[in-house]
Amino acid sequence: MEHGFGGAGARVVSAAVESSKAAPWWQTGVLYQIYPRSFQDSNGDGIGDLAGITSRLDYLVDLGVDAIWLSPFYPSPMADFGYDVADYCDVDPIFGTIADFDRLVAEAHRRDLRVIVDYVPNHSSDQHPWFKESKSSCTNSKRDFYLWRDPRPDGHLPNNWLSVFGGPAWTWDEGTGQYYLHSFLKEQPDLNWRNPQLRQAMLDVLRFWLDRGVDGFRIDVAHFIGKDPELRDNPPRAPGTPAPYHPLGEYDRLQHLHDLGHPDTHDIFREMRVLLDAYQPPRYSVGEIHVFDWAEWAGYYGADLDELHMPFNFWLIHAPWEASFIREVVDELEGAIPAGAWPNYVMGNHDEPRLATRIGHEQSRVAAMLLLTLRGTPTIYYGEELGMAQVPIPPAEVQDPWGKTRPPGRDGCRTPMPWNSAGGFSRGRPWLRSGDPSINVEVQDSDPTSHLSLYRDLLRLRRSSEALRLGSYRPLEAPPGCFAYLREAGAEKLLVMLNFTDQPVAVQALAGGGGRVLLSTTGPLPPAGQQLELAPHQGLIVELQSTSP
Ligand code: GLC
Ligand code: CA
Repeated sequence: MEHGFGGAGARVVSAAVESSKAAPWWQTGVLYQIYPRSFQDSNGDGIGDLAGITSRLDYLVDLGVDAIWLSPFYPSPMADFGYDVADYCDVDPIFGTIADFDRLVAEAHRRDLRVIVDYVPNHSSDQHPWFKESKSSCTNSKRDFYLWRDPRPDGHLPNNWLSVFGGPAWTWDEGTGQYYLHSFLKEQPDLNWRNPQLRQAMLDVLRFWLDRGVDGFRIDVAHFIGKDPELRDNPPRAPGTPAPYHPLGEYDRLQHLHDLGHPDTHDIFREMRVLLDAYQPPRYSVGEIHVFDWAEWAGYYGADLDELHMPFNFWLIHAPWEASFIREVVDELEGAIPAGAWPNYVMGNHDEPRLATRIGHEQSRVAAMLLLTLRGTPTIYYGEELGMAQVPIPPAEVQDPWGKTRPPGRDGCRTPMPWNSAGGFSRGRPWLRSGDPSINVEVQDSDPTSHLSLYRDLLRLRRSSEALRLGSYRPLEAPPGCFAYLREAGAEKLLVMLNFTDQPVAVQALAGGGGRVLLSTTGPLPPAGQQLELAPHQGLIVELQSTSP
């Protein structure tokens, strides 16, 4: 189905339970995304860096996550804050040195934390030596590393493709008299994966980081690398086609049929998977795949589960915060996922407004329980564990290139990690303003009712529970506005009940009259045997006797 909220009847789904001893870390673990610019500055220049991250690893261990994903830290002119890479195999001096990176990996591994790095295969920076060469002449050996085309005979652009960031996807190069393609900024020319040398060079980039000990990759706009070989025009978006979740203005006029997601992309992911599997232990890949057709999305696992370990599942970001929608997303995912493939859930990242601002503070506590109790690998965006809010950035301070053309942009979710009431992020002037100083690690650390404590409790429970890590998922019929499901493994049976409304809801029937409350998103745990009711915006995890429903 094209868009998931179409009322497909709820299915009861139950997945086979595997043993946690056999399951790889990326199935049992929890990922934590770090935006390096904003996590911890170590040298007072106001910009977060690798040494800063290393100095905060104990915080992450204490939080209870299993792996960190680092957004790009490679040499870059920072036109798109590092998603414009000028050298895939080094560290930008702003973030430190390759020795700092090696130290970070070693220190993370010493603490049993895995390290995932960002891999940006669709485009490089226009300052990458490959592009400089490519641009130098039509006959240069790297010309074909990028997508260059003549104007059409009538002088028009080579085709009608548009940039996600606005305007045409083509920029004219005076020097060589051709246009080059860029799906994002003009400073981010698209790489040509149909060129065998480029393909090998990009696979060598993976090898470079794998040989330095990384545990896997997050692949930036992974589905963009496969383009129609003839670069045919995109058709207009048919009337009645559901609008994409993030309105992208002019970009939405077209159906993105030929500029991304070509079936040949799957060959590339298979080749990458062979490479990842050749390492011991095999390394991991998660792709940024903004595809909202379930079958097409699931295709990125590979027909034989031989492509990405996971395409990121962004549905919870886009679904309205209503129990019925959320349940439908989960049930649809459970229905769409190929046999043997592993689900995952994401509620925020460096491109999306902060969760607490999107759905509300109380709601974001329920969302934390949802994210950390569903069947599948959760990814937490830094600061979500504190309930950080989107910070309004005054127009004059906007840094995000996208924000400059389409205000307010993405800066508001990229603000410095607040370590204490004075900031604690940098001894200099931070590159971006901060939000409410009362939201910080130090005050939440010792408060058992804080957001941070809730995340820690949830992560601790998840770690100790086979049912939460690997158990089956079964949705239950629940009162309106409430989402309830069972997670089971062996004799362990956990009931999760989430109240999405601002009214109390009686849920005694769900618990079958028994059970022990293990965790609540608000207030003290109800004593055993008490009439179970969910307070407004409350989530509960109840341990049931294995004989109850
Ligand atoms: C991805 C990144 C985003 C970046 C874009 C272009 O969507 O998450 O931050 O701007 O790719 O690389
Ligand atoms: Ca710094």
